[in-house]
Amino acid sequence: MLTIAVSKGRIYDDALPLLAEANIIPIDDPKTSRKLILRTNHDDVKLVIIRATDVPTFVEYGAADLGIAGKDVLIEHQSDNLYEPLDLKIACCKLMTAAPTDAPEISGRIRVATKYVKTAERYFAGKGIQAEIIKLYGAMELAPIVGLADCIVDVVDTGNTLRANGLEPRELIMNISSRLVVNKASMKMKHQLIQPLIDQFEKTLAQR
Ligand code: ATP
Ligand code: PRP
Repeated sequence: MLTIAVSKGRIYDDALPLLAEANIIPIDDPKTSRKLILRTNHDDVKLVIIRATDVPTFVEYGAADLGIAGKDVLIEHQSDNLYEPLDLKIACCKLMTAAPTDAPEISGRIRVATKYVKTAERYFAGKGIQAEIIKLYGAMELAPIVGLADCIVDVVDTGNTLRANGLEPRELIMNISSRLVVNKASMKMKHQLIQPLIDQFEKTLAQR
């Protein structure tokens, strides 16, 4: 049995064509089904549908053999117990700092709202900036508007969400894309199932 962990939404949508090229086609549709385990056209391959931030945890503990997770999630999760064999180049965006358009340059002691607590701590420490990090689970853009924080650390794609809330992107922390992650024990025990899948993903990506 091979279990692949993916999150609903953009990663699932972008992963479907890659999986299809490897002849893995889900039978159930997470948009219409409440099922968390999706059957596929192979009796021995299933997809588990979980929160994006939970993908590394499932794969690290072997609850899933493989997973697809954003690099933002992976650097925040910080595990040495995962193989990361492939950049799938899907769900691309940038991890950035952002602040209100009229706000001065970030300096001194600042408050930062983010769901990427460890990454933000490392980033500001590396710049020698004293930052108090406030953990939020969403709608980070609201924090500077209501005086909760001076700036945010979040992913940015089109910049529309920032603009719509009177914020602007400031500093690039990292370019982000989704990666294939593999459980270390599965990589050894299920090599004959997993390696051809990695090879096929690689082939598809090379043709894009
Ligand atoms: P969770 O449900 O665990 O809180 P989430 O809501 O961030 O996670 P998604 O919005 O589906 O989950 O994002 C999944 C991944 O897609 C992120 O980890 C990031 O790598 C990438 N991503 C997030 N926002 C964008 C965006 N606007 N454009 C492109 N990629 C994005
Ligand atoms: C992400 C992110 C930003 C937005 C950036 O939110 O948290 O709010 O995308 O994209 P943009 O630069 O193209 O506007 P998402 O759409 O995933 O919503 P959620 O995090 O609340 O699920």
